[in-house]
Amino acid sequence: MEYGSDMAPTTSLPFDLRGKKLLLIIAGGIAAYKVLEVIRRGREAGLEIRSILTAGGAQFVTPLSVAALTENKVYQEIFSLTDESEMGHIRLVREADLILVAPASADIIAKMAHGLADDLASTALLAADKPVLIAPTMNVQMWAHAATQANIATLRARGIELVGPGKGDLACGEVGSGRLAEPPEILAAIARLLGHAQGPLSGKRALVTSGPTYEPIDPVRYIANRSSGKQGHAIAAALAKLGAETVLISGPTREPDPLGVRTVHIETAAEMLAACEANLPADIAVCAAAVADWRVAEHHEQKLKKEAGQDAPVLRLATNPDILATLSTAGAKRPSLVVGFAAETEKLIEHAKAKLARKGCDWILANDVGPGTGTFGGDSNLVHLVSRSGDEEWPRLSKLDVATRLAARIADELTGKHPTKEVKV
Ligand SMILES: Cc1cc2nc3c(=O)[nH]c(=O)nc-3n(C[C@H](O)[C@H](O)[C@H](O)COP(=O)(O)O)c2cc1C
Repeated sequence: MEYGSDMAPTTSLPFDLRGKKLLLIIAGGIAAYKVLEVIRRGREAGLEIRSILTAGGAQFVTPLSVAALTENKVYQEIFSLTDESEMGHIRLVREADLILVAPASADIIAKMAHGLADDLASTALLAADKPVLIAPTMNVQMWAHAATQANIATLRARGIELVGPGKGDLACGEVGSGRLAEPPEILAAIARLLGHAQGPLSGKRALVTSGPTYEPIDPVRYIANRSSGKQGHAIAAALAKLGAETVLISGPTREPDPLGVRTVHIETAAEMLAACEANLPADIAVCAAAVADWRVAEHHEQKLKKEAGQDAPVLRLATNPDILATLSTAGAKRPSLVVGFAAETEKLIEHAKAKLARKGCDWILANDVGPGTGTFGGDSNLVHLVSRSGDEEWPRLSKLDVATRLAARIADELTGKHPTKEVKV
């Protein structure tokens, strides 16, 4: 397929990348398989992708997989008679809107920093006249090595954009920095650099919390709640669709990370608060997480044992930090609009108004989670938007529709721009 064809997106991704051309350089890293997902989701968003596979890259993914998923030829050789009769390495970069190196190995990063051009990928990168985004991944020591860090600093100073690496378990069995950014995060970075996450909230930063928190009792047991994360995740996706640069701080849920959103995974309320504070300043904060009010006061390092003849242990609880109140009173860093949720089983409006006053937030979305409502874990929600100027009752809507309506109300409040059908998302 030639660049320029018009493949319609097949899913409701938060951005439309039709007509945009990506040159994807796949280098030799164990996480190269994840890039196949980036290709698949990028194609769904309408992105046209050509790819270069380094010799190292071809050890981890096959040219056939890449060609089948990109629906395009895969370029591998610099000394190719057919491709180079048309100056392939120059044409590939000239015809792209963005160049993505993923995974970016320590080796290709070093070559880029030093201007080496000893294969098709490095030669194309040296000839690049387009924005370059790299997604590094490597062993934790390779990443921390002074040589790699100096090379990264050189690339940053030249305006090369980075996505990741993240922290976590690495394929080499070690733990730490060096993990390839997840596909949704890479796609969000692509969309941002291509300027295609456009909408009334473009230029605004949004912070959304979602899901339950897990408060450990001992290494194997925890206190949790029934929040599914469906509503918070849908709100993050809806804000991203309207162009907001969105960070989702998520407790443990079964929901997939929304595309176009940077998702930070946490477990406890304390971790959620730290992640929120690390992601300020923001223009919008929506606290949809069901944060545990209490944690166990004494954390047990070892599993509590059930001993014959002994009484059951008594758990003493301590109060968790109040994330909504903390964000609402964050001084200069307070988001312009702070929205909280109130899950109530009775006296919905009365309790929501009291919560609004107590927490100092701007809006409360009050929802009835009483027995029989099916709100927790269900797909629909009956909410009231309570603000200082009154109470708005919304009809029973799906959680997706609640999210869309809330994002539109936020856009209206912050910018006065009503999202319309013409808005590019
Ligand atoms: C199993 C295995 C996994 C590897 N994973 C990585 C990796 O994640 N990151 C990295 O920088 N290098 C990794 N390497 C080393 C590179 O593949 C090697 O440096 C290669 O020369 C990179 O070539 P390229 O950058 O031209 O693709 C790995 C090597 C092996 C054998």
